[in-house]
Amino acid sequence: MIKVAFYDAKEYDKASFERYGQTQDVQFRYFEAKLNEDTVELAKGSDAVCVFVNDSVSAAVIDKLYEYGVKLIALRSAGYNNVDVQAAFGKVHVVHVPAYSPYAVAEHAMALLLTSIRRIHKAYNRTREFNFSLSGLTGFDLHGKTVGVIGTGKIGRIFVDICRGFGMRVVAYDAYPAKDSGIEYVSLEDLFRESDVISLHCPLTDSTRHLIDEDAIRQMKKGVVIVNTSRGGLIDAEALLNGIKERKIGAACLDVYEEEADIFFEDRSGHIMNDELLARLISMPNVIITSHQAFLTKEALDNIAETTVNNILSYFSGDGICDNELCYRCGNIERCKKERKERCF
Ligand code: NAI
Repeated sequence: MIKVAFYDAKEYDKASFERYGQTQDVQFRYFEAKLNEDTVELAKGSDAVCVFVNDSVSAAVIDKLYEYGVKLIALRSAGYNNVDVQAAFGKVHVVHVPAYSPYAVAEHAMALLLTSIRRIHKAYNRTREFNFSLSGLTGFDLHGKTVGVIGTGKIGRIFVDICRGFGMRVVAYDAYPAKDSGIEYVSLEDLFRESDVISLHCPLTDSTRHLIDEDAIRQMKKGVVIVNTSRGGLIDAEALLNGIKERKIGAACLDVYEEEADIFFEDRSGHIMNDELLARLISMPNVIITSHQAFLTKEALDNIAETTVNNILSYFSGDGICDNELCYRCGNIERCKKERKERCF
């Protein structure tokens, strides 16, 4: 039996993981706590840990896991910015779920965008109170507008297709443009200058942290709508707030927030909000925030559970090779050309 310490466990996780795990010789021990230096001890006696986006898998945590004999960090997410993969190299193997439903995230991005620009959230509140006034609800057509997509991987490309379905002109920026995709790639500067809507679909790395900052916002069109379903750290939230206050940014649709780790996924309704910046953003009439919810569809949860269980089984059985291993061997995890015929180390 493979023992797995499952951190940041929610009811919806347990339901799907029980379905795929228990029959497959994998035993999950569920912990509500997030993985960090204070909680790593819970992993003692486990063969693997299973973590999500706000677990903090730092070098110190990795050293402890290594000391406890934990062999594998199984991410239930595609993004891995919360894992120090360099520190893990040579000590603990890391696997992730490269795609569980890119449609879930791309569709959520469009749901946020439409909600925002057609003021659906406001209309919903009004009609519940029998207020049928249309005053202040004027939106704009997406048809004919330009959307700038940053990051044209699995999610970005689906978002591109959705936008094309709305009759939008799509321009894109990617550090590694997709060949023969028919996508019009432009420089970041041109994308900022031309776009009515900007949607972020690239990973959070050292080079993309605060990609949207004061300087970037200065280059954008007045009234631009910014959509972020990727990672909070891509946006300098203070610069975003200033852009909104100065009426430069028309609206912001955020599923992620840089300092979300201790806030998102939890019911904080009875608490005083200590994060002034988040409180101020939420108070803005043209900001919509969801709580890192873009992935949350039945299809995605089932795919996450199935792939994670298969990742764990591949690692602990047979030749131990897992196609979804993240490898730091050549130092460029994004472009690693490691042959999938062997383990990373
Ligand atoms: P992907 O790996 O298929 O695509 C990422 C794209 O970003 C690639 O085309 C890559 O070349 C590009 N890229 C890398 N560095 C870049 C840079 N410096 N500038 C511009 N582009 C760059 O990833 P996928 O599956 O499309 O996911 C994208 C992101 O969405 C993930 O990194 C994750 O942070 C986020 N995500 C959010 C979820 C949510 O629930 N809100 C759920 C799943 C993913």
